[in-house]
Amino acid sequence: MSTYNKTRVQGGKSIDNISPSRYISRMQTNGFYAPPPLSMEYVGPGGIFFRADALQLLANIKTGSIDLAFVDPPFNLRKSYPDFGDEMGAEFYKGWCRTWLLELVRVLKPGGSLFIYHLPRWLIEFGNWLNTIHSVEYKAWIALKMKSGFPVKGRIHPAHYGLLQYAKIGAPPTFNVVRTKSPVCRHCGRLIRDYGGYKDKYKKYELDGAMWVQISDFWEDTRPARQEKARAKFVNELPVQIPERAILLATKPGDVVLDCFAGGGSTLRAAQLHQRLWIGCDIGKPNAALARIAIFFGAEERQSPPSRLKECFSEKFLKTALHQSAQRKRRRISKAGKLAKSNVAADKYASKSRVF
Ligand SMILES: C[S@@+](CC[C@H](N)C(=O)[O-])C[C@H]1O[C@@H](n2cnc3c(N)ncnc32)[C@H](O)[C@@H]1O
Repeated sequence: MSTYNKTRVQGGKSIDNISPSRYISRMQTNGFYAPPPLSMEYVGPGGIFFRADALQLLANIKTGSIDLAFVDPPFNLRKSYPDFGDEMGAEFYKGWCRTWLLELVRVLKPGGSLFIYHLPRWLIEFGNWLNTIHSVEYKAWIALKMKSGFPVKGRIHPAHYGLLQYAKIGAPPTFNVVRTKSPVCRHCGRLIRDYGGYKDKYKKYELDGAMWVQISDFWEDTRPARQEKARAKFVNELPVQIPERAILLATKPGDVVLDCFAGGGSTLRAAQLHQRLWIGCDIGKPNAALARIAIFFGAEERQSPPSRLKECFSEKFLKTALHQSAQRKRRRISKAGKLAKSNVAADKYASKSRVF
């Protein structure tokens, strides 16, 4: 049988024998969603975007071809996305997540990184599970301050999300020192932190009148600016600063970034900003992601993706997907571009991170 069957999981009949096709069919029969047929919605010089179920797309990605996977999956919180019912039983949700996690591990290159954004309650499950898989190793748990956490009866006030990083073993993982502006007093403009004897060491990292210090594993500055209008709130879009930091930390220009729950495309935008290639996919209507692509990258498409991206898929799959998209006369992205112009005035996004 498939390699998935080797991964028997303790405790819980419903989650052993993990196989993507089994989960897809169970999702359908349980009425969670009916996956749309996989379609290539955009192919450009920097990336490809599919409307697809994540597991369906992952099945077509070659083993060891992706440099970084960043995922911000549905949280199973009854958020009710327009095209996806975000509510499964906890056991079923756990099994589903394990299924795509395994697929992500498979498609990563040795040395490639996997970042998962979620609530601590679920990241603990995922970390526990990933620790049993010999081909990945734990790298980091990053805590991100919630903008508007609220007290929950009988529990300590939850105030952070988590971002878990694992790397595939077999090659040294890429690691870059990412820096951000040191916080300053709003009134006097002086540094809030006293860097003691180390202040002189940072002199070489002065830029735009600020001192740039290494980011830690606690991010309290990644919430969106109030005026950042280019967010698609109905897909629960993340601020670009979050995937951007993951990408800067663990990839080089020209690397391939994958987000199989891409929503409004914040990961794709971050990848493009830093000259990384990207593969995006979402099960929902692609309007938000296509609007973003059209505004920031342009609505012009290419006959086929750049060769580094082609390497990530089997030739047969690419040919079929490209053939199907060529047959669709009216590409949705041309419409998304027009919509976007009236809805989104300007790109207010400002990068808060850089690699020197
Ligand atoms: C939390 S949102 C991701 C938002 C994204 N990070 C952004 O910044 O725009 C989760 C996304 O997963 C998508 N989704 C849910 N189930 C999926 C599946 N089985 N395959 C692919 N996408 C799925 C939803 O449509 C939703 O857009």
